[in-house]
Amino acid sequence: MNDSKNHLLIDACFGREVERTPVWIMRQAGRYLPEYRAIRADHDFMTMCKTPELVTEVTLQPVDIIGVDAAIIFSDILVIPEAMGMELQFVKGKGPWFPSPLREAADVNNLRLVNAEEDLKYVMDAVKMLRGELNDRVPLIGFSGAPWTLAAYMVEGGGSKNFKTIKSWRWSRPDLLHTLLRKITDAAVDYINAKIDAGAQVIQIFDSWAGLLDEEGYQEFALDYASEIIARTRRPEVPMIYFAKGAGIWLDRTVECGADVIGLDWTVNIETARQATAGKASLQGNLDPTALYADPKEIRQWTRDMLRAFGGRGHVANLGHGILPDIPVDHARAFVDAVKEESLKLNPTPSI
Ligand code: CP3
Repeated sequence: MNDSKNHLLIDACFGREVERTPVWIMRQAGRYLPEYRAIRADHDFMTMCKTPELVTEVTLQPVDIIGVDAAIIFSDILVIPEAMGMELQFVKGKGPWFPSPLREAADVNNLRLVNAEEDLKYVMDAVKMLRGELNDRVPLIGFSGAPWTLAAYMVEGGGSKNFKTIKSWRWSRPDLLHTLLRKITDAAVDYINAKIDAGAQVIQIFDSWAGLLDEEGYQEFALDYASEIIARTRRPEVPMIYFAKGAGIWLDRTVECGADVIGLDWTVNIETARQATAGKASLQGNLDPTALYADPKEIRQWTRDMLRAFGGRGHVANLGHGILPDIPVDHARAFVDAVKEESLKLNPTPSI
């Protein structure tokens, strides 16, 4: 039923032998695509997230247009806080925004328990529709925000210059922060399990703000909760990817989280990462997203260097963070093509 292309990403996640390195791009469904902007012009962001037909259409765009080896469901990490009862707005030019951020213990206590099958039914409907439309062309990645990163948004109200409110909770109100992280963890576990039941074939956990923390804080407030989520959602054939941005100096800790794949941002030295993880997990990444501003010839060269450094097996090619909205589509395609072609040279199909 599944063709070999569909197995490529899953096999690489599990460290199995593959004929070439699979590639997808964080934020691959988004504003750098004119076809996305055309749909977005007529709908606000959350309406798109809540309309399975629109989710399906924009999720498939990068598969068709730049040829990535996976689809990642179009949605946002902030649908969980919204389902927990927080009002969420997307303000033009400002990004996501919670008008009433969490400030007091009562705010945390008032957060609702999430029943993902009901409260986030629109996501599950989109996952089911997508699996039908994809028809096993490429696997479907589902995702969740990690508790620490979601807590950062919920407490700050949005992106922030120095995240001093959530960071002060880490030092002065650790019990309250743990109460919050516990609630988010339970919601994320339910959400991921429902997504897998609906048909998600790979799961990525985004810990975009892990790098705000100190080493002990990273372990206690980020990694331990991410590890718990992985343990409580693990299924035999569904690889889990943990992407903790800015945490590359703590890879020896991160690799113990139980994920099949550790996502790396562009600051991480690939050789150092391979040593720190010692084959305990596959690695994903990690070309600097701004490298895609350069011309395609250079993109190919840097991509080849990256592929060689990772060494083929156990590598999922990606950028080190999301693709930027003003990257030319041709340059995104150049990256994808370079991975496909150059990794074939790295891993020649054994001749029979
Ligand atoms: O990767 C994909 O293609 C799937 C879709 C996806 C989106 N958000 C769509 C989106 C995914 C995986 C996310 C995750 C997400 N959302 C993260 C983790 C990844 C990361 O970048 O670190 C975070 C931190 C968010 C929160 C968020 N949502 C921000 C900070 C913003 C504004 C900044 C921006 O890029 O616009 C969003 C909005 C958002 N999420 C857009 C998209 C396509 C742009 C919305 C628009 O069209 O205006």
